[in-house]
Amino acid sequence: MERILVIGGARALGAEVARRAAKDGYEVVIGARDLAAAEALAAELDATAVRIDLQDETTIAAAAAGLAGGIDHLVTTGSAPHDVRAVALDHDKLIAAFTAKVMGPMLVAKHFAPVLRPNGSIVLFSGVVGWRPGPGSLVKGVTNGAVEYLARHLAADLAPVRVNAISPGVVDSGAWDRLGDGKAGLLSKSAAGTLVGRYGEPDDVVDTVMWLLRAGFVSGETIHLEGGARHKTA
Ligand SMILES: NC(=O)c1ccc[n+]([C@@H]2O[C@H](COP(=O)([O-])OP(=O)(O)OC[C@H]3O[C@@H](n4cnc5c(N)ncnc54)[C@H](OP(=O)(O)O)[C@@H]3O)[C@@H](O)[C@H]2O)c1
Repeated sequence: MERILVIGGARALGAEVARRAAKDGYEVVIGARDLAAAEALAAELDATAVRIDLQDETTIAAAAAGLAGGIDHLVTTGSAPHDVRAVALDHDKLIAAFTAKVMGPMLVAKHFAPVLRPNGSIVLFSGVVGWRPGPGSLVKGVTNGAVEYLARHLAADLAPVRVNAISPGVVDSGAWDRLGDGKAGLLSKSAAGTLVGRYGEPDDVVDTVMWLLRAGFVSGETIHLEGGARHKTA
């Protein structure tokens, strides 16, 4: 049975990946900074849980030591949005945003490289904003763009372990529920900004993650899952 660690796995898209992986017969380890939430989902899925905070290297090192028996796949969904214009940038929030998406996954690679099996893989999370600049999306855009480069450089560094990234458009993952009444407007605006005329569903993302785990000839790539949003000109 192949073992998969999902960092950010207690919530939203990470939890959907964990659910599908368990259903598909993987041994699932749910990594999250909220250990109680990870343990609750793990109990439901007959999985295990480990505390991993991408902002804290000691938790990453400890998790890798605890999985010294080896893992086959690693998915990391972490993000720490800092959606402001340049004039409002906050140094610590900027560092946190880069750590969640870029530096944290690099430290995950550092500590997990010795325990990742050679035919294994890593899936990182980018996002369409990296390719669609706009006011207020400076940090999200640059961190998501950096993930594309991280996937290709990490793939070369960790080979033959495969490293790829997924770049979703707006997906109704649960993350947007915090907008309350504003969520419907965001989803319909996003749907209108695609070629396929709809926003993303969690299964769009989960299907692609599961494909990447098995796509043995794909490495260093970023898969764009945004209904053609980058190609819509008007
Ligand atoms: N949903 C979309 O429309 C969309 C669009 C484009 C890109 N994406 C990307 O897809 C990924 C998943 O998004 P999502 O929709 O599932 O919602 P999300 O709210 O962005 O999910 C982020 C996940 O990362 C975890 N996380 C944040 N900081 C962490 C840290 N320091 N250590 C460990 N885990 C941490 C969160 O757990 P906590 O519960 O601890 O906060 C949560 O599970 C993100 O990278 C996001 O940027 C999503």
